[in-house]
Amino acid sequence: MKVLMLNGSPHEHGCTDRALEEIAKALGENGVDSEIVWIGRQPVGGCVACNACDKLGRCAFGDKDGVNEFRAKAVEADGFVFGAPVHYGRAGASLLGFMDRLFYSNGRAGQPNAFAYKPAAAVTSARRAGTTSALADIEKYFTISQMPIVSSRYWNMVHGSSAEQAEQDAEGLWTMRQLGRNMAWLLKCIEAGRAAGVGLPEGEAGTWTNFVR
Ligand SMILES: Cc1cc2nc3c(=O)[nH]c(=O)nc-3n(C[C@H](O)[C@H](O)[C@H](O)COP(=O)(O)O)c2cc1C
Repeated sequence: MKVLMLNGSPHEHGCTDRALEEIAKALGENGVDSEIVWIGRQPVGGCVACNACDKLGRCAFGDKDGVNEFRAKAVEADGFVFGAPVHYGRAGASLLGFMDRLFYSNGRAGQPNAFAYKPAAAVTSARRAGTTSALADIEKYFTISQMPIVSSRYWNMVHGSSAEQAEQDAEGLWTMRQLGRNMAWLLKCIEAGRAAGVGLPEGEAGTWTNFVR
């Protein structure tokens, strides 16, 4: 079992990474592998609605900034953690741009759905304010993608301006450790259910209504 994490901060080893490392440690102690992918420092754009992914099965711009590479890893992963610093009271724009294109291009042109029915968690860091709003920004991708959300004993946030300051946030790191344990527990429950013959829920063709008549 493997959890794929994305550090959506421009700091490779900043506060968000410190939080993700704590989750990774707890996952490892509970027999679950993990990998942290760093989004990097290059500008990351949002979706330009070109719909090229409908034909390509991947984002037309995603080979440049890691979106397509992350999606390939995501197909193999069992669970996810997406983390970002708070920028201007919401999740940093790089992470949101990355996730817009990652989720919009997912499962198109006959490619497998990398996310449905796989548990996910959001994590955020801030000097002071905007964390709960940033968590909600990230969780929206999960709730439109049939992904069970993993929670912890408090909202998944650390505070600080550097990894050293986040290190002093004892309650924040406690929350991250519990998140890792909860993720490991849910993954094991899903695996046990699968082994006992519990299949995925049935889908249906459905109808697209762009507005209600
Ligand atoms: C452009 C920008 C905007 C920011 N806006 C906020 C904010 O609204 N609230 C806040 O508490 N911190 C804000 N910060 C501080 C970061 O959220 C905080 O330092 C965070 O913990 C850094 O995490 P990182 O080391 O993973 O990048 C901002 C930082 C930047 C660069």
